[in-house]
Amino acid sequence: MFRILEKNDLAAKVYRYIIEAPDVARKAKAGQFVILRLYDDGERIPITLADWNVAKGTITLYVQAIGKTTIMMSMMKAGDVLADVVGPLGIPSHIEKGKTLVALGGGFGIAAIHPIVRAHKLIGNKTISIIGARTKGLMLMENEMRAISDDVRIATDDGSYGTKGFVTTVLKSMLENREPMDVVLAIGPVVMMKAVADLTRSYGVQTLVSLNPIMMDGTGMCGACRVVVGDKLQFACVDGPEFDAHQVDFELLMARQKMYSPQEKISLELFNKICATQEQRETAVW
Ligand SMILES: Cc1cc2nc3c(=O)[nH]c(=O)nc-3n(C[C@H](O)[C@H](O)[C@H](O)COP(=O)(O)OP(=O)(O)OC[C@H]3O[C@@H](n4cnc5c(N)ncnc54)[C@H](O)[C@@H]3O)c2cc1C
Ligand code: FES
Repeated sequence: MFRILEKNDLAAKVYRYIIEAPDVARKAKAGQFVILRLYDDGERIPITLADWNVAKGTITLYVQAIGKTTIMMSMMKAGDVLADVVGPLGIPSHIEKGKTLVALGGGFGIAAIHPIVRAHKLIGNKTISIIGARTKGLMLMENEMRAISDDVRIATDDGSYGTKGFVTTVLKSMLENREPMDVVLAIGPVVMMKAVADLTRSYGVQTLVSLNPIMMDGTGMCGACRVVVGDKLQFACVDGPEFDAHQVDFELLMARQKMYSPQEKISLELFNKICATQEQRETAVW
């Protein structure tokens, strides 16, 4: 039983779920993800493991409601049960001692960098986190990131908190000021990860990104998540999701992410038609 034990409504349509999943929690490592379904025959959606608690047998997920399935999930409540949660999937992050890590997160990407930053901190590495949001009120996980980072730098699009601009604005000035760093990690929208890769390339700083192509089976069999890294075809679900940012073909990734846009739109429209009222949404049985 994958019961939702706790659900919190955070900023910018992002929800935090604590879910009963003892087998996943026991094996989880930083950088891994799960694939879940809300109900039998439901869509399979990959979500990063933001945290886990082996003693309590729980995992923590941050999910941004952007399409049909994630919007449906945003309507679930504590006590509701997910049909299945498969994982942990993917290759864990490679955490090496003696490094200074600069980690950038945007949106749900902040939740995704969280366990990786923590793993670096636990082995004594220096950790600098750069987190961003459109405006101060939409900033996610600031306290959690402060607890595991030697330094947290903030960026907001409107300048209401921290540096005015994007997380890349902060990274750019760090690079220009020659602040010491060994590894840069960026997780968030593809445009953000591409911008980070373009920035660090000329400085020769090792840069990692966690890719979010469309996934289905999560076993390397269906090919949905294929990405090109260097000259090689890779399956993000089994060969990643973390890759060398300087080798990733981001244009192909962006094109493949849009492959099912018409179907996704129809699916959301149909759902909105069936569940037209708030009451219908709240009483729907998934
Ligand atoms: C390894 C990995 C980790 C992820 N971690 C998180 C996370 O921690 N939190 C979070 O909010 N989101 C995460 N995502 C993205 C999340 O899976 C998609 O937002 C979700 O599947 C969208 O489903 P939907 O039906 O709500 O939206 P749809 O309308 O189906 O799609 C909306 C957008 O999401 C993308 N998308 C759709 N289906 C998938 C899919 N099966 N796999 C990947 N992308 C898809 C599409 O490109 C589309 O543009 C992750 C994706 C991957 C691959
Ligand atoms: S999701 Fe099917 S091969 Fe990766």
